[in-house]
Amino acid sequence: MNENIIIVDFGSQVTKLIARRVRDFGVFSQIIPFQKLTEKSFKNILVKGLIFSGGPSSVGNENAPKIKKFVYKLNIPILGVCYGLQLICRDFGGKVQLSKEREFGKTKIQILKNSPLLRNVYNNKNQYRVWMSHSDKVIKMPEGFEVLASSTNCSSVIIQSLKDKIFGVQFHPEVVHTQNGDKLLKNFIVDICGCKQSWSMNKFKNKMIESIKNKVGSERVLCALSGGVDSTVTAVLVHKAIKNQLQCVFVNTGLMRKNEVEIIKKLFIKNYNISLDVVDASKIFLNKLKGITDPEKKRKTIGKQFIKVFEKYSKKKKNIKFLAQGTLYPDIIESLSQVGDSKVTIKSHHNVGGLPKKIKFKLLEPLKELFKDEVRKLGKELAISKEFVSRHPFPGPGLGIRILGEISKKKIKILQEADYIYLNLIRKHGLYDKIWQAFCVLLPTKTVGVMGDGRSYEQVCVLRAVTSVDGMTAEAYKFSNSFLEICSNEIINKVKGINRVCYDLTSKPPGTIEFE
Ligand code: XMP
Repeated sequence: MNENIIIVDFGSQVTKLIARRVRDFGVFSQIIPFQKLTEKSFKNILVKGLIFSGGPSSVGNENAPKIKKFVYKLNIPILGVCYGLQLICRDFGGKVQLSKEREFGKTKIQILKNSPLLRNVYNNKNQYRVWMSHSDKVIKMPEGFEVLASSTNCSSVIIQSLKDKIFGVQFHPEVVHTQNGDKLLKNFIVDICGCKQSWSMNKFKNKMIESIKNKVGSERVLCALSGGVDSTVTAVLVHKAIKNQLQCVFVNTGLMRKNEVEIIKKLFIKNYNISLDVVDASKIFLNKLKGITDPEKKRKTIGKQFIKVFEKYSKKKKNIKFLAQGTLYPDIIESLSQVGDSKVTIKSHHNVGGLPKKIKFKLLEPLKELFKDEVRKLGKELAISKEFVSRHPFPGPGLGIRILGEISKKKIKILQEADYIYLNLIRKHGLYDKIWQAFCVLLPTKTVGVMGDGRSYEQVCVLRAVTSVDGMTAEAYKFSNSFLEICSNEIINKVKGINRVCYDLTSKPPGTIEFE
């Protein structure tokens, strides 16, 4: 049976980071929202430890998230982080005081007593730099617990009940600003929980191939490709398991990057000999988008049309029972998480590729336990070329949301050319892997210029490049001025229709990565 660490989510923004750290140690971990944690969660898996995440609530509030009491009777080691520590204190009879004063950011704490949890984490002056983000604090310790560290603001920053193997930290060991935070987590997972660190991507791959074979049997599977890493890895993995029982389809919306269709064909047909249908729907998409300038309307139109095309195609494939999708773990947690989530729609994301409800397929989601960077690792395990697995993300609605204002065939062509030049220059200068995402945007405004001896009146192209960890926040990439100049000159000289190039310095927030 696989060893497992369960991370109970109380709504912290950084819960996913805990799961990442645990898996980096070679131990499988899963996040379960606190409301979903039941006796069933412990069936058929070997849970070696529990981590209670942080969260935005106050344990004293009536509706604050709670943990079901049976959890404490399982005799499984527990580490509470921030809200998790306060919950443990409260549940064991201590007192947590509500406070409006916030302790936020890097803080030096004083270690008062050593513990297996703290091996090799603090300096020889018993000091330890951690990252705090809390306002409530423990004012009365529960019986049986002792304080291991304190700060000027908070008397119980680390606590433990060694005999019960229950620990709590007021700070966040999962964020990089906590010195040796990874060592602290490793002490808990390896030394205290006794996990074996035997989880690897190679094992995962083999296990998945077996499980796909068993699930699918002699049935056929359909996989819609987008040109992105997730659907590509899904398809290659499924193909490894069931060979020519897999049928792939690529819907060409006409809103793809230059040469995208050829790249996909080369990868799937030439490299893997995978059966691939390319449905050219570019004319229909262009037609439907005529006259539309509103970003949300554009997204919805593209999404709806994609589903229509996919439905029409799949209806012809009556003998196919399964649909393989590249759903990732964060997609699943996001749809489960009910704490601390904003309900505001900034953009209707993932509207392309969503599963049409009317289509009666059984779902195959072999990546649903993985994070994005793990999918890339799996891609490498499957020998998909580095060039392909390290591709920047590309949004479902494609160039449709990078041509501001009305979309036309001519504008698509202009943007494709500019984007092609920009990305090639980024690659040539060895910058591609340093950037999360880089692309061009075509503004709906024209400006005046001089070209040769004549006056020009053409469109503006904006260059965008950002660094990011997960796309949730982003910073503009700091190119050198000379590199930007090279891009600007080459685009203006080679792309008819563009006579001005700008660079976007907006971070996210307040901006978003895409323009629409
Ligand atoms: P924003 O623009 O919201 O984008 O900062 C964050 C990340 O998501 C990508 N993105 C999408 N991906 N379908 C997708 O699959 C979409 O509709 C979509 N819209 C944005 C965007 O490229 C960036 O990586």
